[in-house]
Amino acid sequence: MKRIKAIYPGSFDPPTNGHLDLIERGSKIFDELVVAILRNPEKDPLFSVADRRKMLETMTAGFDNVLVDTFDGLTVDYALRVEAQAILRGIRAISDYEYELQMALMNRKLQPSLETVFMMPAEKYSYLSSRLVREVAQLGGSIECLVPEIVGEKLREKIDVAHKFETGQKLVRKTSESKKFRKKKL
Ligand code: PNS
Repeated sequence: MKRIKAIYPGSFDPPTNGHLDLIERGSKIFDELVVAILRNPEKDPLFSVADRRKMLETMTAGFDNVLVDTFDGLTVDYALRVEAQAILRGIRAISDYEYELQMALMNRKLQPSLETVFMMPAEKYSYLSSRLVREVAQLGGSIECLVPEIVGEKLREKIDVAHKFETGQKLVRKTSESKKFRKKKL
């Protein structure tokens, strides 16, 4: 019997419970699923590719037929390289549809043998995106129930480091300002 392998490409910056939901659904219908993180030098991501890979590997450790990998260049070229027949993408709402349709049709034009398969995550994740998770976390909001535990931990670490850096910078500014003030007084 023919085995069907699919890739699930994306930025995953960071991975969310919505991604995990889709991975779980994909792992049930495909024989093999490769979660493929795009190495995009043009974007300025919050997490390094290595961090994202670690998080996704931890999140998917329980799925025997799911692998995590990274790629650059065209998604269709990567899919061919790993001998996948399908590209899995999630659609949360109508707003995703236009972009996803455009991408699926371009990928079909580039490589007609590949099929894009769309799946819907659970409704409770229909508003969830990596961008919003980053924003809420950076502004001190709760991201509980939005991301897996490992991602929550990594986000908190990142934000603590950024906070310490900011506090350090303020301290440096304050110290040099008060030095200037003291000099003036003298
Ligand atoms: O999670 P994202 O950011 O929505 O994922 C977008 C991704 C990585 C699937 C898309 O940008 C992509 O496929 N990039 C690789 C370059 C490519 O193949 N471009 C043509 C797509 S039609």
